[in-house]
Amino acid sequence: MAILVTGGAGYIGSHTCVELLQAGYEVVVLDNLCNASEKSLDRVRQITGKDLKFYKGDILDREILNQLFAENKIDSCIHFAGLKAVGESVQKPWEYYHNNISGTLTLVDVMRQNQCKNIIFSSSATVYGNPAQIPITEECPKGTCTNPYGWTKSMLEQVLTDIQKADAEWNVILLRYFNPIGAHKSGLMGENPNGIPNNLMPYITQVAVGKLKELGVFGDDYDTPDGTGVRDYIHVVDLAVGHVKALKKIEENAGLCIYNLGTGHGYSVLDIVKNFEKANGVKIPYVIKPRRAGDIATCYSNADKAERELGWKAENGILEMCADSWRWQKNNPNGYED
Ligand code: NAD
Ligand code: WQD
Repeated sequence: MAILVTGGAGYIGSHTCVELLQAGYEVVVLDNLCNASEKSLDRVRQITGKDLKFYKGDILDREILNQLFAENKIDSCIHFAGLKAVGESVQKPWEYYHNNISGTLTLVDVMRQNQCKNIIFSSSATVYGNPAQIPITEECPKGTCTNPYGWTKSMLEQVLTDIQKADAEWNVILLRYFNPIGAHKSGLMGENPNGIPNNLMPYITQVAVGKLKELGVFGDDYDTPDGTGVRDYIHVVDLAVGHVKALKKIEENAGLCIYNLGTGHGYSVLDIVKNFEKANGVKIPYVIKPRRAGDIATCYSNADKAERELGWKAENGILEMCADSWRWQKNNPNGYED
């Protein structure tokens, strides 16, 4: 059984390829490498001792999609490909809507023409907006997103839901990720952001490795125990395993399903700094800065539904996440470019 992994050279995609190969699936990756290095796929091969097929191409390109479906027997698609930088999406909304929405519409059209109607979609806790309840269950209503990136996820959830409603042959699994961090235990794969990182953990690891001077903590006056923002950080390998479990659900012809993938625990920015220092014995200097536009105080999941229905639960704690993020950064200070 071959699984098409769009965006498979990226951070979450590459970790998922490892878990898929280890679970015995054949893997076909489509990635245009706009935010990834092909070397991540060599690392996947190195870790697993197995091969995967790679097509360098775009989900907006029908020709390459048709070629890929003609050359492989694809059963299901795990769809990671997309642009994901929140701030950039505010500056370049057209590019985000075109890439993420037109790209997914094209992909799904070619899939159905090829009788492949199984998709797992990378959604995000961002679809809850400022959540109506904490911890957030899947029943919590979707909210108002604060940026075009978030809207692409919210809109694509609706598009895929409507497609499944109209044609019961589709199986659509919407996975709402919380805050993925960490890296493969081997230290061979991890997050590889371009330029100055926007997200907390890659910023911390770049301070630790000496590339950045200090962490700016965005606000210490939130209504949280220490005043800094609280999030549900989840180890990327746990997240990757969640996709393999979701494929089993597709094999049961489950129709439309929505799952939160988080740990159910909230950690503040300062909790992360402390745990990183404890796990790794490295000091992280920080300064308090003003709040960042669009941030909310608290966001963490109730992930019981995924445990109940997928038999999935995050296994790694915060110290492991911090240790694994650091191992990757320390061994690969320039990401895959070393
Ligand atoms: P990433 O940027 O590392 O991976 C995305 C991959 O998609 C990249 O390899 C990129 O080159 C590729 N890509 C982008 N547009 C493409 C296109 N038009 N055609 C082909 N390939 C294309 O990001 P990630 O962190 O691994 O995220 C994977 C998915 O999960 C994304 O859809 C993202 O929005 C979603 N997500 C990520 C997070 C997070 O915090 N990392 C949280 C929630 C959801
Ligand atoms: C976490 C906390 C910041 C950087 C984003 C997207 C979301 C999802 C995951 C894709 C917050 C604070 C951060 C820094 C800081 N992505 N922070 N200094 O904002 O929860 O979620 O990534 O779907 O859609 O919005 O993650 O890692 O940016 O921030 O103080 O330099 O760390 O204010 O409280 P966020 P993050």
